[in-house]
Amino acid sequence: VKITYIEHDGRTFEVDAEIGSTVMQTAVDNGIEGIVAECGGACSCATCHCYIDEAWVETVGEANQLEQQMLGFTVEPRDNSRLGCQIDITQELDGLVVRLPEAQF
Ligand code: FES
Repeated sequence: VKITYIEHDGRTFEVDAEIGSTVMQTAVDNGIEGIVAECGGACSCATCHCYIDEAWVETVGEANQLEQQMLGFTVEPRDNSRLGCQIDITQELDGLVVRLPEAQF
């Protein structure tokens, strides 16, 4: 499936993501700078913060409680904030667009 990452400066990367991977892992595999992922996907560092494109918010779904707590530690949480490591890639996410926060470098 295709995922598009838009860096805070507008650079856009469309990459192939594998089903079963995550939004965070796919970014790391493709060298996308705006995802740091210090904790390696354990939902404990909040450096894989991303903003889900409005058109995709419903499909991606809401963060669970633990993730919501972690989002509270990010620099600029918004309604469409999610942690990339907590979003599993599924067929439904083909075409997903996420934006990456400026603070995450
Ligand atoms: Fe650390 Fe997602 S990689 S919270």
